[in-house]
Amino acid sequence: QRIRLSPEEKHLADMFVYICFCSGKEWATDDVLFYTTLEGLRCSKVFRLDLTSSGGRITSIYEETRPDVFVEVALSGDRQILSINCNSRTSSEVMLINTTVSSLELFLVQPRQPDLLYHVEHWRKWLIILASTGPGQEYQVVQAPLSDPSMKTWVSLFSPGPGTVVKDMDVIGDHCVLVARTPTCELVLIVVPLTHPKEAYTIQLPSWACAIETKKPGLTKPRHMLELLISSPVHPPVPFCLHPEDRLLLSGTKDGSFPENQGSYTTTRLEAYSQDGTLVPVTLFHIGPVEGLRQAPLLVHVYGAYGRDLNMEFCPEKRLLLEQGWALAYCHIRGGGERGLSWQRQARVEGKQKGVEDLQACLQHLFSSGVSSPSLTALTACSAGAVPVGALCNRHAHMMQAVALQAPFLDVLGTMEDPSLPLTLEDREEWGDPVGNPKHRLTITSYCPLHNIIPQRYPSMLLTAYSGDARVPLSGVLKYTEQLKKAIQKHFTVNPKAGVYTHSHTCAQLNHSLIVSMYDGFV
Ligand SMILES: *[C@@H]1O[C@H](CO)[C@@H](O)[C@H](O)[C@H]1NC(C)=O
Repeated sequence: QRIRLSPEEKHLADMFVYICFCSGKEWATDDVLFYTTLEGLRCSKVFRLDLTSSGGRITSIYEETRPDVFVEVALSGDRQILSINCNSRTSSEVMLINTTVSSLELFLVQPRQPDLLYHVEHWRKWLIILASTGPGQEYQVVQAPLSDPSMKTWVSLFSPGPGTVVKDMDVIGDHCVLVARTPTCELVLIVVPLTHPKEAYTIQLPSWACAIETKKPGLTKPRHMLELLISSPVHPPVPFCLHPEDRLLLSGTKDGSFPENQGSYTTTRLEAYSQDGTLVPVTLFHIGPVEGLRQAPLLVHVYGAYGRDLNMEFCPEKRLLLEQGWALAYCHIRGGGERGLSWQRQARVEGKQKGVEDLQACLQHLFSSGVSSPSLTALTACSAGAVPVGALCNRHAHMMQAVALQAPFLDVLGTMEDPSLPLTLEDREEWGDPVGNPKHRLTITSYCPLHNIIPQRYPSMLLTAYSGDARVPLSGVLKYTEQLKKAIQKHFTVNPKAGVYTHSHTCAQLNHSLIVSMYDGFV
């Protein structure tokens, strides 16, 4: 993700010099690199590095002043246009530079307006725009003339059917290729012929497909196909090649076969009814029939924040668990992006509770479908994914045996009360403002993992955190550990006959900035 070769692969060495301070970067030609710098946690400046002059010449291109806006650079598929994407969590503004001329003039596509998100590609004399202007404020594909691309000229080319949501867009020759998700969270490709958009068609992917990475083309090859890597947490990336002209999706391995064992893992898609009747998708990986999983240990993954999909990329240790008889569940709860932009909107700020209800519903549905049982179940999450897990531990500690959290966000109230922390201001769109808004405060206090700890038997926990982590302040993790220890001690003082061995342990390797906290509540 961090390395970009120049198109002719001429500037490999230069890149290693510049990689120290570049975060996002794109090579416009073999000698011109556009990049953003990362300061603290924010990308707000865009620069152009020209390697034709000796030693290289750096020009500042753009500087964003709004504190809640992150800046990224991206080249269009044909490399003719560089877009500078200035996105807050809920709105976008895109500026373009014509990379085929030396002038560095920026032109604005559409001024920012609330809840309008959009991404831009280039096709002939047009812009192809993925914009949140479709039915239900979901993404659709629109077309605008390059000469006047503002919103009033946007013409809709394609909206996916109800329940299907667009996740990504590429333009290949005269075709627009969309990565989309069906209601059960399955990935498909939708090809929209730009000359005949009504003839859009869907291409099915292997049933296990959970993550797609598309490859950027070099300068030399004309772009008539799209190279993809398809993977799942237990399937290593397999290359595929889409030829939109011929409606063909080819496996890119030499003999067209899948790597060994790919076939023996089963991917089952389930849906759980949440408290308000919403169907929440769950992806389950297992070996053998679902009916045989009652005695199987279960590892449950969850995230559900910032409109981001749960990470489903290949993870070798997950595959090892599967081979040792575990079942792996991925719960696509609200707050994430799996079911579209509304999936996030429903569970942000005052809707945050819905994510917790969704997680509870997913666990109940798994157990009632004959998959594992609470005493064999562990939950895992990182960062903001720790919020629904921590909330569920407080409310229904009996639903799981163990919890493993990485860099967990556990003190929502304390963090959001402190505007001096690096992400508090832009995070108000996600969690709300407990200082200025009493309703937000009430909602946060109702689910915040740290503020709802009660004396009871908690699952065993492993928390891993970094003292240098600017996103998730360590103090919250340490406070949580302390309070949890106290609550558990209190519980077993009041119920001395509970017969439970408890042990808690914090190990700090400050030199390596690694803090691990464990609480072991096994009987
Ligand atoms: C870039 O500028 C050149 C020269 O003015 C023009 O021919 C070309 O159409 C422009 N390309 C885009 C994508 O605007």
